[in-house]
Amino acid sequence: MTINGEEKTLTVRRSESLLDALRRASYTSVRHGCKTGDCGACTVLLDGQPIHSCMLPAVQAEGHAITTIEGLSHVAAEKPALPQLHPIQRAFIETGAIQCGYCSPAQMLTAKALLDRNPNPTEEEIRAAMSGVLCRCTGYVKIVKAVERAAAIMRGEEVPPFAPIEATLSPDDSPADLLARWREQKDSIPTMVISPPEIEPLERVGKPQMKVDGVKLALGRPAYTDDIKLEGMLYGALLTSPYAHARIKRIDTTKARELPGVHAVLTYKDIPRVKYASGGQSFPQPPPYDQVSLDDKVRYVGDRVAIVAAETPELARRALRLIEVEYEVLPHVLDPQEAMQDGAPVIHDEPDTEGIYDRQRNIVHHIDVEVGDREAMWAKATHVFEGEYRTSQQQQAHIEPHVCITYWDPDGRLVVRSSTQVPYHIRRMLAPLIGLPIKQIRVIKPRIGGGF
Ligand code: FES
Ligand code: FES
Repeated sequence: MTINGEEKTLTVRRSESLLDALRRASYTSVRHGCKTGDCGACTVLLDGQPIHSCMLPAVQAEGHAITTIEGLSHVAAEKPALPQLHPIQRAFIETGAIQCGYCSPAQMLTAKALLDRNPNPTEEEIRAAMSGVLCRCTGYVKIVKAVERAAAIMRGEEVPPFAPIEATLSPDDSPADLLARWREQKDSIPTMVISPPEIEPLERVGKPQMKVDGVKLALGRPAYTDDIKLEGMLYGALLTSPYAHARIKRIDTTKARELPGVHAVLTYKDIPRVKYASGGQSFPQPPPYDQVSLDDKVRYVGDRVAIVAAETPELARRALRLIEVEYEVLPHVLDPQEAMQDGAPVIHDEPDTEGIYDRQRNIVHHIDVEVGDREAMWAKATHVFEGEYRTSQQQQAHIEPHVCITYWDPDGRLVVRSSTQVPYHIRRMLAPLIGLPIKQIRVIKPRIGGGF
């Protein structure tokens, strides 16, 4: 196949996706998001058309021309620090259309395909064309602006230097008033920098700046956790529970351990039982201490049962299929109200869990907040509204998956490269779980997809 204009031969497995084959060949700008064809982060151009590379078997790309974002810019060997960016890359940086940057290569390639066939698209056409690539962070206004700006540059038009709207609030204004006034004139909101009246304007501070690592992200350079490969790296895979509530009666890992290329298979029998609290983004940690890395009981579909480390991801998955597990299926409960009724199955009945608010009724935590004299305020109120409010569980839908690579450094420290926002908490929580002193763990937080 041709990749970015160069003839390339990739040796691929029959079932391997184009996404995996390209990443294995170090085209790390092709991002791994969902692998189910939903997010679009893996978009590349196949003969000029955007496709989701996770959905295409690599063998089907034989004889075709692939473009990744590495093929959009020109990086001269003698000036690697001064790449010549494509107008689309420049426009994305200038308009602030790159936030975490995880989706950006896919966005820019999709824009390229659009502008190659339609140099003067309407906003509607841009939105329709870009709809196959989700962005978790930027919102789509700036992305549309970036494509419009790139289109103008590519048509040879002069574009003014990109400048966000700067405004100082008057004492009677609120940012909402300012936005409302802008909305009356325009149908979309530009990048705005709004200063309160008491702030004296300074030359630099309080001014919009271009993203300091915008160029790196626009070029699709390896910036995220999974963008490195280590010599002899092993890959982990988890066996997870098919049951919402069950006890593991028997687990046999013999066949998995015997598979050549498998280096470790761990179950609850192989690791010390150390309790931890999963809500770790503060210290002291909020209770309960109800988790262990691996347990003889599973409490939801997808709960951890065993861990395999093997020389390839495929081998690790094969080993998972060789683990024999016999479960005693327990009564489960799926509804929070039912879980609080007398006689409901108790999810955490193990004696070593601490800090559960009401174990028998499965209430993990209870927060009471009262500010001021409630009774006195209600007595004075013209109306009192009472209600019971519920919300569903929310997923923040970051497009980069949770991923982590570890290795021992020359000083005997365990280095953990992780897509986390809380490196110091990771270190503190990990140390007791693996029996290392905190100072022997170093956590590296590279660029993360979906956080800042
Ligand atoms: S669409 Fe391919 S990784 Fe999400
Ligand atoms: S910038 Fe689009 S996913 Fe973060």
